[in-house]
Amino acid sequence: MNLNIALFPGDGIGPEVFSEAIKVLEALKLDCSFTSSDVGACAIYKHGAALASNTLEIARNADAVLFGAVGAPEFDANPKAPVRPEQAILGLRKGLGLFANLRPVKVYEALIDSSPLKPEIVRGTDVIILRELTGGSYFGEPKFNRGIKPNREATDANYYTEAEIRRLMVMAFELARGRRNKVTSADKANVMASGRLWREVANEVRSEYPDVHYEDVFADALAMHLLRAPRNYDVCAMDNLFGDILSDEASQITGSMGMLPSASLGDDRNRHGLRRGLYEPIHGAAHDITGKGVANPLAMILSSALMLRWSFGLHDQASRIERAVEKVLADGLRCGDIKSPGTSVLGTREMGDAVAARLG
Ligand code: IPM
Ligand code: MG
Repeated sequence: MNLNIALFPGDGIGPEVFSEAIKVLEALKLDCSFTSSDVGACAIYKHGAALASNTLEIARNADAVLFGAVGAPEFDANPKAPVRPEQAILGLRKGLGLFANLRPVKVYEALIDSSPLKPEIVRGTDVIILRELTGGSYFGEPKFNRGIKPNREATDANYYTEAEIRRLMVMAFELARGRRNKVTSADKANVMASGRLWREVANEVRSEYPDVHYEDVFADALAMHLLRAPRNYDVCAMDNLFGDILSDEASQITGSMGMLPSASLGDDRNRHGLRRGLYEPIHGAAHDITGKGVANPLAMILSSALMLRWSFGLHDQASRIERAVEKVLADGLRCGDIKSPGTSVLGTREMGDAVAARLG
């Protein structure tokens, strides 16, 4: 089985953590062919666009895409820059039809003390934040930031069609059936028209899955409950913006954003008859630590495990990676973001080596 993978390391710590994921994939001795491309700020500087047209082509021709991170401080400092690094990831999500973003939030027993929350609250947490990824305020029209002082105005429309909500909710129920059989849907139906449609459609889909426990929650309340009692949740489905925000929040249950992988999936099938997905850590380019060799590569490595599972059906190999990560943590090895008293702090490369050495 040949795995044809597009590699887009991107900016900041992206390339550093990326090398460690490739190291782990190579240690599994799979038959991989790689095609790489620049994305984000580095692509803007080289080609004038965050996502060059042939990069999208490379992604479409691959069975799966591994993605690092994009972003650069000079663009953050200039909100009106017409070309922005983030256009790379947004363009790939939209261009590949990756409407569902799975963000597993799993607490490792060894990392209990790295969470800012109390051990008795976080212990045993295993949630998937299922984020809608190609609609809502990220893509809705009109979208503008215009005018001159004192009459400047801006908007982002949180536009959703029922088909977009439906396919995401179907994914939520299907996922829940393979897990603990519970779906929580978060919206702001008390305020937003898009939230009322979300709730209506979610409840229609729910009636097709009578075996799955279901609840509607307001998104602001879920933000609170996730920190209060994260174990109450299994699959939490929500729109694009709420999913962006609540997944960063939920990462703190695990201790660090440096631990959270993600899988972005659509309905498109690859040469293996499985979903062509894009796999990326949820953390960003982290320019404050770029080039220092200290970034935690585990989210990136765990993203490659999700890729093996979802786009290639290689469940055993995916579990080998996940077990190796668990062993590394149990052996007291940490990167700086998850260090705690009594553990040894490793650099990015040493962490990659430690995972590769424990693949069994
Ligand atoms: C994420 C990131 C992205 C998003 C940025 C980099 C565009 O925050 O994947 O969560 O907002 O979706
Ligand atoms: Mg985010």
